Amino acid sequence: MAALKFRAGTCSGCRRLFPATSAVAQASIKNWLGGGLKDPHSRYVLAVDDTQSGDAAVVALAKWVTPGAGPKSAEAEEWAAQMDWPEDVDGALGAEFFTMLEKKHKEHMGTRPHWYLELLAVRKSHHGKGLGKHLLSWGLERADQDGVEAYLQASPAGVPLYRKYGFEDIETVTMSRADNYAEVFMKRQPRQSQGVSAS
Ligand SMILES: CC(C)(COP(=O)(O)OP(=O)(O)OC[C@H]1O[C@@H](n2cnc3c(N)ncnc32)[C@H](O)[C@@H]1OP(=O)(O)O)[C@@H](O)C(=O)NCCC(=O)NCCS
Repeated sequence: MAALKFRAGTCSGCRRLFPATSAVAQASIKNWLGGGLKDPHSRYVLAVDDTQSGDAAVVALAKWVTPGAGPKSAEAEEWAAQMDWPEDVDGALGAEFFTMLEKKHKEHMGTRPHWYLELLAVRKSHHGKGLGKHLLSWGLERADQDGVEAYLQASPAGVPLYRKYGFEDIETVTMSRADNYAEVFMKRQPRQSQGVSAS
């Protein structure tokens, strides 16, 4: 986990926030992922290639947050604004983007219990092999068992997958500072059927 290198290739804004060339930006992601390991409400689901070792072995990663985490606090909105962004990162964009995510999450879900997909990433070399679906289904099965909604913020690359598995758009926010990158907020109602299937 600690060695996983994050490549934000899906949007220019993401690349400006987490350039692969910035050791500080990469370290901040590593710290964020590592911090989540200590959080009792975070669940990491990994797909591992047994034939590889180290970095290369992790081919897909999802971070789910359980309903027990409770509603978003006012402090959650403030952390991005207060964060000490490294020099080689577009800190103004980072503050705007992450503050917006926190604010919208609170606005969309309020105090309703839900499973929250905070991160889903599949290595490019492993796209189209069902890994994204598998890691998504892991959380959706739990949301259905608990009878609660699932919630996420989607990059344009993720939207088709999420729509296919029952998520509906709530709102789209366009970031003019990031070449009109569009973040889509989505939720899915719980189902009583056995297993998670495509719509
Ligand atoms: C989006 C992403 C997670 C999809 O993962 P993946 O492992 O390639 O997707 P899967 O192979 O599991 O596809 C699952 C289903 O979604 C469909 N799907 C996935 N991407 C699609 C697309 N762009 N357009 C249409 N359908 C798509 C597949 O056809 C498949 O359908 P099936 O269940 O009928 O077989 C992956 O492309 C990725 O990591 N992208 C970069 C990071 C990112 O943007 N993450 C999303 C952040 S919100």
